[in-house]
Amino acid sequence: MSDAVHSGCAKLILFGEHAVVYGVPAIAAGLDVGARATARGGQGTLRLLAPTGDAVASVDLNQPGDDRLATAWRRIHTTLGAPEDVDVDVTLEVPPGAGLGSSAALAVATARALLAWSTGDAPDEARVAQAVEAAERTFHGNASGIDQAAALGGGLFVFERTSEGATRTPIAAPPVRAVVCQAAPGASTRAMVEGVAARRERAGLVAPLMEWVGQITREAAAALTAGDWATLGELMDLNHGALCALGVSTEALDAAVHVARASGALGAKLTGAGGGGCVWALTPDDPEPTLAALRARGWDPFVVTLQGHTP
Ligand code: PMV
Repeated sequence: MSDAVHSGCAKLILFGEHAVVYGVPAIAAGLDVGARATARGGQGTLRLLAPTGDAVASVDLNQPGDDRLATAWRRIHTTLGAPEDVDVDVTLEVPPGAGLGSSAALAVATARALLAWSTGDAPDEARVAQAVEAAERTFHGNASGIDQAAALGGGLFVFERTSEGATRTPIAAPPVRAVVCQAAPGASTRAMVEGVAARRERAGLVAPLMEWVGQITREAAAALTAGDWATLGELMDLNHGALCALGVSTEALDAAVHVARASGALGAKLTGAGGGGCVWALTPDDPEPTLAALRARGWDPFVVTLQGHTP
């Protein structure tokens, strides 16, 4: 059987993280980088490779213990009913544990490659989604599913988790450049989500704050479609303020946000669970000054192009 090569998208949450767990809409983008997996005949080993090609981790199907990568690999393999004589190599193209959805990208790439190798056919996306959901439970606890939605397909979309399930509505928008920057090591998404839940229990004002974030997200979707970057930037700043109020920003994230704004970015906010990880800044005209300002502070920012769907 020939090797099967497939990929999954990393994601950037533009608006609405945390509030999305409580049924408020969020906006995310599937990026054109993420994870790339190759399945080939072998003995049930999953190897995680750095972009340089060096192996950074290796886990086996029959490995005892509760190593998270091993558990995710086992769950993907079991959900797909794949044979045991297969190895998968996965290369991560974004930093792991930084809020860019590396684990969902890894799970999507792995499940697609495994299924394509086992069946000799194009992977059935409904089965891939099932396997990815099982794997993501290992990493995230009560996850909204926004990471999987982005990892399964590129482009900008509104994501909403309702009592009937999750919806993914593509956004039509002109392409726009943004800067992404990891300001500090990422924190556990599960711990951050639990922290917000505890604050929501304690403080009655948190629920209306989340509704307000929902309003920001709705206005942001309209601004994206209109290409109204000034309004979008302002909405980012408002959303970052709400995330500070939820207790998920940090000194490093706030510093990166302020450096980006001072360099001319139209708006900046943390992205993902917070407690560390990344910020994103809106730089439609020229990302260079923002890249330079963040680099001068010792960070390693990069540019992404947010691609809307054509109407
Ligand atoms: O895993 P992260 O850092 O991309 O954060 C996930 C986004 C949250 O809204 C905080 C949690 C969720 O499951 O939606």
